[in-house]
Amino acid sequence: MSTVTEHLPADDIESALASGPNGDEVNSKVPHHMVDSLHVPAERYYSREFFELEKKHLWPKVWQMAAREEEIPNPGDFVEYEIVGQSLLIVRQPDGSIKALHNACRHRATELGKGCGRFPGNQIVCPFHGWRWKTDGSISHVFGREGFDPATIDPNDIRLREAQCQTWAGMVWINMDLDAPPLMEALFPAANILERNGVQNMRAKWWKEAIINCNWKLAQEAFFEGWHVKQTHPQLYTYTGDAESEENKQNVSYTPFINGHGRFQSGDARSSYGGKADFLESARNLFKGQDAMTLERDVTIFESVAGDMDTSTPEYTQKALQALFAFWAGAGIAAPALTPEVLKMWGGDIHLFPNYLMLPMYTNCLVYRVRPYNDDPDWCRFEVWSLTTYPEGQDNGRLTLSGRYDKDDDDHWGLIPRQDFANLERMQRGIKNVSLGQTTLSSEWEVTIANMHQELDRRLAAEL
Ligand code: FES
Ligand SMILES: [Fe+2]
Repeated sequence: MSTVTEHLPADDIESALASGPNGDEVNSKVPHHMVDSLHVPAERYYSREFFELEKKHLWPKVWQMAAREEEIPNPGDFVEYEIVGQSLLIVRQPDGSIKALHNACRHRATELGKGCGRFPGNQIVCPFHGWRWKTDGSISHVFGREGFDPATIDPNDIRLREAQCQTWAGMVWINMDLDAPPLMEALFPAANILERNGVQNMRAKWWKEAIINCNWKLAQEAFFEGWHVKQTHPQLYTYTGDAESEENKQNVSYTPFINGHGRFQSGDARSSYGGKADFLESARNLFKGQDAMTLERDVTIFESVAGDMDTSTPEYTQKALQALFAFWAGAGIAAPALTPEVLKMWGGDIHLFPNYLMLPMYTNCLVYRVRPYNDDPDWCRFEVWSLTTYPEGQDNGRLTLSGRYDKDDDDHWGLIPRQDFANLERMQRGIKNVSLGQTTLSSEWEVTIANMHQELDRRLAAEL
């Protein structure tokens, strides 16, 4: 597995802070562009024109998380990655490496794989007339060769086309632009921060999706700040002090990075959801409401050391976390180095431009990927992973999507995602309200939303 340190000599996150608004040149080229860092024009979330620009100039040019490696553990395993009408097959090769192949027969265009599966004998067979390719994309059999002009079936012409494909931290990333800069350059500095939090040691516990009546950007931005917790997820807001106090506000800071990435982080682990929170109660609510950032095994450990302690004291929090660290050591679970930076990320999140979010906590991580759905700016496909770090050597078998569940389905979604999903469709309706025109951003809590849009404008302008 590749690591940041193999790719990047520099790790200077301070030098990766994003600069301010776009220049006039960018703005003059992009319709519905950002005017400043404090407002987002509403049309960016529903206009067909803007959606078509993203289709043409963003998605074919940007690195995207296409699959987790454990979806394709064995040679011949494949999974399809679809983005705004383009389909790629992510295929494990006989030597263990991975390729991303454009999913279209070179004869008459039939898609060669759907969903996920295995290509037996490392041969990709077209279901229409039976042409065959090796899993590396080279042609191995042209059925009816004698009926074709030899010049039209030159092996170089009819090999399956590749996209760029690189792995990092157990994930497969693709870029359809063969001239795009390397993955780790594009993910800087988000990948560096996440690697310190140990995401490369994590594997999927579960993976689900919902189809939501909401633009992909509006959906993911709902997770760019923890500031909505108080109103949207009151059960997580167990802060008992003055909500307007400086102590409370300073527990979260927001940082826009270059490349469109962003971060929010909390003061420390104890104050993730309010400096005077009941640590045990917060842990229970996080587990019950999401089963991702905090798992049942964590809660069990925290409960085991509670005794008759007051679980809203710093002494209890320290004891609970030390019990967790001891559990990791005893169970052979790879833990991150517990630096202040790592602890601050517990309860925060990292946005990787354009459409991927990771929320690491302990040796777990909640992950979101948001894609446009059905060529429609009003709809998105919202996927959620729960990752955790298993004891060394544990084999969990092949990972598949557990299912697509209605956003209100309380058998499959915990309270936290249902609370978030409920906002999203209301936002998409509100964004078209004739009275609106733009949204208004906080200059403190919502800076990474502006940063993402400005990076998007720069990328569109570079192509126009
Ligand atoms: S369309 Fe694929 S072999 Fe004919
Ligand atoms: Fe939320």
